[in-house]
Amino acid sequence: MKKPTVLELKRKKGERLAMLTAYDYPSARLVAEAGVDLVLVGDSLGMVVLGYDSTLPVTVDDMVHHTRAARRGAPDAFLIADMPFLSYGTPERALETAARLMKDAGADSVKLEGGSEVRPIVEALLRAGVPVLGHVGLTPQTASSLGGYRLQGKDEENARRIVEGAAALEAAGCWGVVLELVPAALARMVTERIAIPTIGIGAGAQCDGQVLVFHDVVGLFSGFTPTFVKRYTEAGEAIRDACARYADEVRRGAFPGEAQSFAMKEEVLKRLYGS
Ligand code: KIV
Repeated sequence: MKKPTVLELKRKKGERLAMLTAYDYPSARLVAEAGVDLVLVGDSLGMVVLGYDSTLPVTVDDMVHHTRAARRGAPDAFLIADMPFLSYGTPERALETAARLMKDAGADSVKLEGGSEVRPIVEALLRAGVPVLGHVGLTPQTASSLGGYRLQGKDEENARRIVEGAAALEAAGCWGVVLELVPAALARMVTERIAIPTIGIGAGAQCDGQVLVFHDVVGLFSGFTPTFVKRYTEAGEAIRDACARYADEVRRGAFPGEAQSFAMKEEVLKRLYGS
């Protein structure tokens, strides 16, 4: 699939975009081979790959390391890298982080969390030529102040903040906005009101695109599965079963078999034994 430009992505408003996360060479390769439109190296890697209980400990170095690996797995994909917690508090800091993610690691765009309050940061990035994907609703880096991992935008004030936040991100120049864990009707309103693509996760079917976490989709993460996740396969079970069969065959002497072993010339062996 040909990599879209940012301008082409903006024009995909109204089309259904499929985005998945990927964090390393094999996952990025599989996701790209499957033909998804967009690949996100999310800071969710803190939980599903690094075993933290939130995204907060994820560092810029972590993101660079994983984005590089994902880029090697998906050289032609439009690759977005998350700016991790506390890596974009000022325009200067945001530019440093974006430079690492784009120049050192090969991302095509960055994603950052927040609405109206991050507008000056997004504007500074855009002035420097950095394409930005916004993210409002449940923003995992500030989940604690939002009351935890729970539905956002249920009351009028909170819903208004989300609508205004998405509009501010559009005005600042974002090419798209992720809407996480908001009522479907609110996501629909935001999608109707802004001219850039919305990409939903736990935000109903009316967004322009959808995103899910790779490990949730393929059944590789069982720590906690939000209700909006759909599991398409149970790869974790298949992998556990394969590992158990391997261990069993090693213990029974059934692995390696002849097919996995190498022969040597009989006369060489005889000479070795003879000496
Ligand atoms: O970090 C992540 O994976 C994300 C998606 C869930 C949107 O931000």
